Amino acid sequence: YGDASQKIDYVFKVVLIGDSAVGKSQMLARFARNEFSLDSKATIGVEFQTRTLVIDHKSVKAQIWDTAGQERYRAVTSAYYRGAVGAMLVFDITKRQTFDHIPRWLEELRSHADKNIVIILVGNKSDLEDQRAVPTEDAKEFAQKEGLFFLETSALQSTNVENAFMTVLTEIF
Ligand code: GTP
Ligand code: MG
Repeated sequence: YGDASQKIDYVFKVVLIGDSAVGKSQMLARFARNEFSLDSKATIGVEFQTRTLVIDHKSVKAQIWDTAGQERYRAVTSAYYRGAVGAMLVFDITKRQTFDHIPRWLEELRSHADKNIVIILVGNKSDLEDQRAVPTEDAKEFAQKEGLFFLETSALQSTNVENAFMTVLTEIF
C-alpha cells in the first residue's frame, strides 16, 4: 500500500451498493487499510476511503464510496452515483434475500449512473460455505446475463477482495 507521495494520474470513483450487513464496509476496510472487524456498525449516510495504486505505470487514486444498505440511513441517491466510473454490487452468499434484491440495486444503479460504468457482482462471506444459500452458479448465470463481472469474496479471510477491486479498476483503466 502506498505510493501516496507520487503524483496522481487518475482518480476513479467506485461505489459500493447492496443490502445492509452484506459486508460492504468491511470489504472497503480490507481493501483500503487491510483491516477487518466482526462487530462492524451499520453505515449511516455516506463514507469514503481512498487507496492509491499503480496500474500500467500510472498512479490511480481509487476513491471508494460506501453507503448504508438500510433505506433510512442512505445517502442522497443521485449525489452518491454522480461521477462514479465503477460499482460493486454486493450480496451475502448466506442470505438468499440479499441476492434476490440485486436486480433492484442494479436498476437503481443503471438509472442513476453513467451508462459506461463498470460493474462487478460480488458474493461476499465465502468463508461461510457451510451456510451457503446462493449457489455460485446462480450468481454466475445472473452476472453473465446482465454483462457483469462476478467474484466471490471473503472480507474476513481477505479472499478475492483485492481481486474484486482490481477487476473494476483495471477495466475502468
Ligand atoms: P450496512 O452499512 O448496514 O449497509 O452494512 P454493510 O454491508 O456495510 O455490512 P458490514 O461491512 O458492516 O458487515 C456486516 C457484518 O458482516 C459484520 O458483522 C461483519 O463483520 C460481517 N462480515 C463482513 N464481511 C464478512 C465476511 O467476509 N465473512 C464473514 N463471516 N463476516 C463478514
Ligand atoms: Mg456499511
